[in-house]
Amino acid sequence: MANGYLIGLDIGTGGVKGLLVSPGGDVQAQAFADYPLLTPHPGWTEQHAEDWWSATLTVLRSLADSANGGEIIGIGLSGQMHGSVFLDKHGVPLRPALLWNDARTGNECEQIERSVGQRRLREIVGNPALAGWQAPKILWLRNHEASNYKKVCKVLLPKDYVRFRLTDGLATDMSDASGTLLLDLKQRDWSTEILETLDIPRSWLPELYEGPDVCGRLTGDAAKQTGIPVGTPVIAGGGDNAASAIGAGVIKAGTGLLSLGTSGVIFFHSDNALCDPDGAIHACCHAVPEKYHLMGVVLSAGGSLRWVRDALATEEVAAARCMGRDPYELLTQEAESVPPGADDLLFLPYLTGERTPHMDPYARGGWLGLSLAHTKSHLVRSVMEGVGFALKDSLLRITELGIEVEELRVVGGGIRSALWRRILASILEVPLRQLNAEEGASFGAALLAAVGSGVYSTVTEAVLEAVSTSPEAEQPIPEWTDKYQDSYLKYQRLYPSLRDSGLFPTSNGG
Ligand code: XUL
Repeated sequence: MANGYLIGLDIGTGGVKGLLVSPGGDVQAQAFADYPLLTPHPGWTEQHAEDWWSATLTVLRSLADSANGGEIIGIGLSGQMHGSVFLDKHGVPLRPALLWNDARTGNECEQIERSVGQRRLREIVGNPALAGWQAPKILWLRNHEASNYKKVCKVLLPKDYVRFRLTDGLATDMSDASGTLLLDLKQRDWSTEILETLDIPRSWLPELYEGPDVCGRLTGDAAKQTGIPVGTPVIAGGGDNAASAIGAGVIKAGTGLLSLGTSGVIFFHSDNALCDPDGAIHACCHAVPEKYHLMGVVLSAGGSLRWVRDALATEEVAAARCMGRDPYELLTQEAESVPPGADDLLFLPYLTGERTPHMDPYARGGWLGLSLAHTKSHLVRSVMEGVGFALKDSLLRITELGIEVEELRVVGGGIRSALWRRILASILEVPLRQLNAEEGASFGAALLAAVGSGVYSTVTEAVLEAVSTSPEAEQPIPEWTDKYQDSYLKYQRLYPSLRDSGLFPTSNGG
């Protein structure tokens, strides 16, 4: 086995996470640096690409220190999908990036479906036009910020902007590219037909690579700023979900992943470009060369609990700071005292609209069933359960496509809560298995870097060597499952009745 270290980076919504990993898959060090999420209007989410870069520098310097002179063999990138960084001719961002959970592009989605044709769009990209994906954001810029639009020379996904700063190269990987609505899914190439119909120049888009390909090397300037040698290979990597799946060993048919970060994702590997005829489950390329995946996406999963922490839990946050503990630990501890079903309190987690199964950028969140008897602990538990019901919507859709689910591997900050794991296993009615290294996307990115830099010859070999699961899985609790089946039936009726009563907004304009 090679000496030295691999670095995996995840350019997330909450911050950049980086891991220093040995070729055998042992995590030697980790670093994190955060940045703000901007919400200038309800339904809008943005971030400054420069913030991603500063956080990346902080993380890379810290990992370079931890490597203590040991060779860094390769850097793998992963990150939040679908975002758009618009660059001018000098490579400078023209405005804050629009993110994956930004819901302002409802009209542009309609425009895409009208001009390409609903059926043709699905034939080529495997998905309907979804607010939050990249193509409608390009049209939004054209429709709303003409002076910025005139100056656009390149459009990059979040992790690929960081790659550009590290290597000066313009590149992306297939898994992230398939979340733009501009990639021909079966051909694994930018679709000339869609680009021409939408009048988007191909020259704006980066070069395409498979996940483990080396597609650049660290520049002298980036080397000086990070302490990592010039010329270090930078590997294509993957969108955060595909990279997490690799880190969890989800690389063959029948294996599935539950990722509980800001978003909640149910992900299944597929050998072929399988698509959902209703378009509620996304069909994308995997970061495993030539392979695919299906995923159902809940936009505000951990994001809903974060919102509760920020909006309602000032006391817990202050107490946690005094005790040197994580505020989520205190919050979820309180929720443990509440019975399953939260005494008939239901929460809809549609704080940034919803993708699977509703594909509705105008959906909104809410509680139903509040009474004087409910406490803050009920609010917290109902949020954890509401996210579980939303994930169940995705899981059921995936099983309708003929995929059998025996268990799910789990990654993401949310699954650190034992209570949330129990709730989710009982709502989804499948065992949840943790990983020994559950760092998610950054771990998968490090494994892709290991393949790209020649430590392993295939992703399968890397996974066999470096990924191991915990022996025990979290099993559904039968009494909770009974209660949750009942609550889920009520949950399922909430969204259609609110929508049909006209209770959601009709635009996310600013
Ligand atoms: C997937 C999606 C999210 C982001 C979160 O379609 O939008 O999971 O990738 O980082």
